[in-house]
Amino acid sequence: MKSPRAQTWILSLILMELQTIATGVASHVQIKCNVGENITLPCVFPEVQSLPLTDIRVSWQTHSDVLMFLNYGTVEYDHVTDRYRGRTDFLGEYQSNGNFSLLLAGVDVRDEEEVIHCYIQVKESTGFALKYSSEVQLEVSGSFSQPLLEGPGHNSYTCKDRINATCTSIGEYPKPQVEWTINQKKHHDHNVTLDRDLNTKLFNVISTMTITASVDQTVQCSIKNTRNQKTRHSVLLRFPKCTNISSTTAVEKPARWRIALGVLGVVLLLALIGVAIFIIFIQKSRCPSSRDPANVQANGSTSVRINETPLLLINHSRTSNNTN
Ligand SMILES: *[C@@H]1O[C@H](CO)[C@@H](O)[C@H](O)[C@H]1NC(C)=O
Ligand SMILES: *[C@@H]1O[C@H](CO)[C@@H](O)[C@H](O)[C@H]1NC(C)=O
Ligand SMILES: *[C@@H]1O[C@H](CO)[C@@H](O)[C@H](O)[C@H]1NC(C)=O
Ligand SMILES: *[C@@H]1O[C@H](CO)[C@@H](O)[C@H](O)[C@H]1NC(C)=O
Ligand SMILES: *[C@@H]1O[C@H](CO)[C@@H](O)[C@H](O)[C@H]1NC(C)=O
Repeated sequence: MKSPRAQTWILSLILMELQTIATGVASHVQIKCNVGENITLPCVFPEVQSLPLTDIRVSWQTHSDVLMFLNYGTVEYDHVTDRYRGRTDFLGEYQSNGNFSLLLAGVDVRDEEEVIHCYIQVKESTGFALKYSSEVQLEVSGSFSQPLLEGPGHNSYTCKDRINATCTSIGEYPKPQVEWTINQKKHHDHNVTLDRDLNTKLFNVISTMTITASVDQTVQCSIKNTRNQKTRHSVLLRFPKCTNISSTTAVEKPARWRIALGVLGVVLLLALIGVAIFIIFIQKSRCPSSRDPANVQANGSTSVRINETPLLLINHSRTSNNTN
């Protein structure tokens, strides 16, 4: 494209753009599409369908590139810029109906960088004059891969350990949103690293999440394309294999309780023995005096006296009643 012919070609493109400013753009459409898709760029001008094709010139171009060029009834493929060569073609019976819509195959991210124009010129006595122009702006979304979720692998870890999960996806465009779902709860406080492929301009995404291992934990990551709202989910990863340290402490705790109970039991037993010894000591200190016959007699006499007094009184009253 460095020949003088190419230079005059570029000059004619610029002139066409200037002419467009004068005539105005008939239509401006925005097309949402995904990377790799085949799409149709519309350009229809039915007013030219009665004219012989040799009187029509159709140019599909951006500011710097040519996608397709129809001149004097023939498609001039050699004008097509390298990055569009083989990716574009007219569709259907364009000769008869004035429908110069273009097929663009294998859309990529760079296709959205410039507005794509369709110019239709008609041969007049003074030369070709611009009669119609339309614009197409592409909005390309990356048809990204399903997120791959990786846990700690075969590394053993115990419950309540901090473990890392990594989520990766390739072919994102534009910058995506990453969301983690841990035990049905959504998290956005994660670390996302974007790495851009300079060739395809697509993003590769790596997101890491540090989670606290628990006995029954589910983890999933989701990647959302902010442009087409499409969300892709990773598999739901379950972490059932953490060593249950809460169960080992559960074994230790009762052991401590048993020790405590044992100590308490021993203390109570010692206290009971102490009380028993004390009682026996007191009884032993009283026993010799109770065995004293004099005391027995005295106690017996007093007890008899206490017991006898009412009897005597009763007897006395009975006797008095009897006497009355
Ligand atoms: C123009 O041609 C394309 C491709 O064949 C078709 O999809 C579109 O409907 C046509 N447009 C009109 C206005 O006929
Ligand atoms: C897209 O277009 C290319 C080239 O024209 C063709 O080989 C391919 O099959 C098309 N793909 C789809 C999905 O239509
Ligand atoms: C988890 O990630 C953090 C920060 O990236 C790192 O410091 C830590 O060593 C990782 N832990 C494991 C178990 O890989
Ligand atoms: C994210 O991770 C990278 C590499 O592991 C680290 O350099 C950066 O500080 C982290 N950012 C946050 C917000 O944690
Ligand atoms: C782990 O310990 C907790 C508390 O003791 C218990 O409820 C749970 O069933 C245990 N899980 C396993 C897998 O052993």
